[in-house]
Amino acid sequence: MAVKRDPDNVEVMSTDVVTMDKIVSLSRRRGFVFPSSEIYGGLGSTYDYGHYGVLTKNNIRSRWFDSMVQERDDIVALDSAVILNPLVWQASGHVEGFTDPLVDCRTCKLRFRADRLEDSHCGRKPSKKPGETPDCDLTEPRQFNLMFETSVGALAAEGSKAYLRPETAQGIFINFKNVLQLARRRPPFGIAQVGESFRNEITPGNFLFRLREFEQMEMEFFVPPDDAEQWHTYWIEARLAWYHGLGLRETNLRVREHGPDERSHYSLATSDIEYLYPIGWSELEGVANRGDYDLRQHTEASGTKLEYVDPDGSRYTPFVIEPAVSIDRILLALLVDAYDEEVVEERERTVLRFHPVVAPVKAAILPLISKEQAGMVEPARKLYEELRRHHLVEYDDAGNIGRRYRRQDEIGTPWAFTIDDVTLEDGTVTVRDRDSLAQERLPLEGVRAWLDDALERPWSR
Ligand code: GAP
Repeated sequence: MAVKRDPDNVEVMSTDVVTMDKIVSLSRRRGFVFPSSEIYGGLGSTYDYGHYGVLTKNNIRSRWFDSMVQERDDIVALDSAVILNPLVWQASGHVEGFTDPLVDCRTCKLRFRADRLEDSHCGRKPSKKPGETPDCDLTEPRQFNLMFETSVGALAAEGSKAYLRPETAQGIFINFKNVLQLARRRPPFGIAQVGESFRNEITPGNFLFRLREFEQMEMEFFVPPDDAEQWHTYWIEARLAWYHGLGLRETNLRVREHGPDERSHYSLATSDIEYLYPIGWSELEGVANRGDYDLRQHTEASGTKLEYVDPDGSRYTPFVIEPAVSIDRILLALLVDAYDEEVVEERERTVLRFHPVVAPVKAAILPLISKEQAGMVEPARKLYEELRRHHLVEYDDAGNIGRRYRRQDEIGTPWAFTIDDVTLEDGTVTVRDRDSLAQERLPLEGVRAWLDDALERPWSR
């Protein structure tokens, strides 16, 4: 949303301005995300995260972990291996069924998902939809497995084949018995895990939306079968509320239930939490009712009973409710939601209106004049040293103050504390609010408490 304000800071016009190109450009310009292996020409749909990208991802991950584990009594954490015994992927159905239908075009030599030809573009100029003209020479669809293969050990011999995990969930199912026994849990209870997953996507793209390597946050919630539907509804609502708490606009979020043809091989019912990305409404997070599919498959294949035995001797295989999302898709949604351009007193600024909880830097400390002799650097450094012990803050004395504010606006820093000549006279600093641009003065010694308090306050746009 672009907002235009008059000299009294009153909003006079607003229009939608966010595009994927602008998000990509800002992410690169400000060091959130870089194309991976760039000096070698890149590698399709893999990205490297720079300083602010790492900080924002850390904030997303830690909010997720707090809400899933720290703030609950019924969910425990796990960190399982990326490379598992390949029998895991046979039993889970991924070797057989984790495929997309693929077609090749013999003319433009590109590959497309057979079920997404309508949304695809071929490599020729002007670009066409595959199959649109008689020149398009498409092969028959064939199934393409999305798992990356690797080999374990020094020799790539038969029997050494393994896979990079395409989801973290299977590491949780195969540890069900360990957790049940050692964490002394009984259904309903959950196991939460965050880690990298890998998929050899046929048509990756749209920046962070569809990657070949991404960081998933998944939680498998084990429940008595009769309670599964009720818990499914519970988790859809809980996850939606979590996104509202991160500051995403309610109008940009919706829940969409999968039709029977859309569901994954393990799913009894799935609802997607969708976000209105610049590419249109698309899946942000999936919340699935996986039934007892996975625990039964692993029980059968491994011979280890993955079931719950009640103290009264009755036993059952729990059903599983699974909220699953990648940090990358959340980061993309946050960037899109926060992106804003506005004209203030005839000057344009780009600003990321992040919720303070996800903002990579919570506050900037800026001496108005950076020359030591002006006397502002010392109190500014002192304030910075004090605040950095508690929060992620940034000290910046390079360039004129307007440019420094713009830089902080573009990385979404909610507040800036400026040390100026009045500070030297009366010991107060200016605090500038990123969103309203309002400025007020605070005593230097009260800044720490003010910032603690501001970070706890409810936030809205
Ligand atoms: N364990 C269930 C599972 O993996 P999924 O719908 O295939 O289900 C869950 O993936 C979530 O992981 C998606 O909602 C999305 O947030 C994220 N995700 C999946 N594929 C992705 C990709 N190629 N790039 C980025 N994120 C992806």
